[in-house]
Amino acid sequence: MRNFLKKFAGNDLHTLNKATVYAVAEGLCAGAPLLLLFVVLKKALDESLSFFDIAPYLVLLLIFFAAQTFCSINSILNSCSFAYGTGARLRLKIGEHLRKLPLGYFKEGKSGNTIEALLLDVFNVELASSTMYNKLATSFIIPVLVAFFMFCINTKLTLLIVSTVPLALFFFYFFRKKIDARSTAMLSSHRNSASAILEYVQGIRTIKSFNMTGPSFQRLDVALRDLRDQSYSLEATIAPLSEIYACIASLGFPLLLFFGTRMYASEEVSLAVLLFFMILSLKFYQPLMGIAPYFSMIRHLSNSAQNINTVLTTPAQPGELTQFSAQGLPIRFDNVSFSYGDRQVLHDIQFDAKPGTMTALVGPSGAGKTTISHLLARFWDVDSGKITIGSHNVREIAPDALLSQMTLVMQDTQLWNDTVMNNIRFGNPQATDEDVKAAAKAALCHDFICRLPLGYDTVLGENGSSLSGGEQKRIAIARAILKDAPIVILDEATASLDPENEHHIQQAFSSLASSKTVFAIAHKLSTIRTADQILFIENGRIAERGNFESLLAQGGRFKTFWDLQQKGQGWKIRRTK
Ligand SMILES: Nc1ncnc2c1ncn2[C@@H]1O[C@H](COP(=O)(O)OP(=O)(O)OP(=O)(O)O)[C@@H](O)[C@H]1O
Ligand SMILES: [Mg+2]
Repeated sequence: MRNFLKKFAGNDLHTLNKATVYAVAEGLCAGAPLLLLFVVLKKALDESLSFFDIAPYLVLLLIFFAAQTFCSINSILNSCSFAYGTGARLRLKIGEHLRKLPLGYFKEGKSGNTIEALLLDVFNVELASSTMYNKLATSFIIPVLVAFFMFCINTKLTLLIVSTVPLALFFFYFFRKKIDARSTAMLSSHRNSASAILEYVQGIRTIKSFNMTGPSFQRLDVALRDLRDQSYSLEATIAPLSEIYACIASLGFPLLLFFGTRMYASEEVSLAVLLFFMILSLKFYQPLMGIAPYFSMIRHLSNSAQNINTVLTTPAQPGELTQFSAQGLPIRFDNVSFSYGDRQVLHDIQFDAKPGTMTALVGPSGAGKTTISHLLARFWDVDSGKITIGSHNVREIAPDALLSQMTLVMQDTQLWNDTVMNNIRFGNPQATDEDVKAAAKAALCHDFICRLPLGYDTVLGENGSSLSGGEQKRIAIARAILKDAPIVILDEATASLDPENEHHIQQAFSSLASSKTVFAIAHKLSTIRTADQILFIENGRIAERGNFESLLAQGGRFKTFWDLQQKGQGWKIRRTK
């Protein structure tokens, strides 16, 4: 555990060492008054005791109390500073690492687990290093110190008191696998429910629209019930074990009473020594009782540390080229094939996109258009064939460097719970307010932004929920204009918008796309009439290619698609009997 913490402690490691030194000193200060107690007790029983006799001891006692408080405060402050510093570093490290993982990592429900790794596991580590570490240190030091005192005074009585502790520890050790299994099951159930809650919250709109009630959302229901059962099962295992452990450990006390009184009767020990041992034995057992709950916490912790390690050791996408400019470079898909798992969705995709031209990807839903654009951005790497920009295979380019050369306006716009200004500035953090406003004007957002209650300082609510779909899209375009990257990918940006909004967005796109290499994915074929080349994708293959007129003239699949769309322009919903 300490090794794990050390890895992320950075310069804070000396803070942890300081916390440990203070914890040890605190333990020593807590034990020292016992020695004074012995001296006072002995004096009181052997001779008469006046206030002046004990006055110096009283002063010493006060000094020890003050020192213990001082050490305790410093130990807590240092361990908290270490814990939260390390926690923050861990979260950043995980966040940074997640950014470098291929998008494929986030498939198959792993994102819930990942967020759980961030929240629960890092929280466990924080908790361990802020309180548990400190508590465990003092819980061990005080009994060791007390045993040492006792040992110096009487070996036999000391052995009686400490003899039951190894038994108790062995008892816990014997059941450790059971605790482990319960702890692992509880944590995994915790992760499951976190991912189910996430799914529930993300899908809340759909759930509401279908009027689904809690229990009908099966996965969340099952996950939460399982969490309840696993949590209970863990506690139901640990609580009796802790109590039995405490009982075995403190069996030394009756042993002390039994043999101690016999030794006193045979004058083997004095009354002062016997009384002193009785008092000390309580001080000896008390901290040992308190550590039982920490055994399960330690199991949790190593489980969490393992989970964090799994995330952090997932290999990042390779790419040596960290400085890269795509300006003026052609893009080529060279016989590219790609599968999601076992299912091949792209077959031998081959095309060139000259710099500064527009390539439109059209075709039926599920044909593979979005996947093609994702491969260019290296959200996934191709199975076979290659994608090149100029002379570079995209696999050689570091993902950060590659994405810095691209602007993506995706099917679903991602806006943040932040001001409009910051949402647009996300495209280029160095941009001034004036640059942001210029981009907003070019994306035709300026007017509706000015109508918002606080203009550019209006906070947009989670995922831009206070804006209409078309407005959100235009904010995303403004952000893209601000980024000003040489490659632009627009994915179905005009789907499901009213004609006026669509017209605005078309204009905004024109500002964004001028002199860029553009990949436009559109269902509405009217929006890509001016594309330099159109690729008609069907079942993961390029079925037809050409410009708008030549494709219509071919009279093939594209023509049928176009005709269908023209007919669909004026569709009506008719009630059938
Ligand atoms: N993350 C994924 N995991 C597994 N299969 C996927 C994934 N994303 C897409 N697919 C599948 O790959 C195929 C191509 O999907 P893609 O999203 O590229 O289609 P598209 O042409 O963009 O469709 P649409 O026009 O509906 O957006 C589809 O059959 C889809 O089911
Ligand atoms: Mg798509």
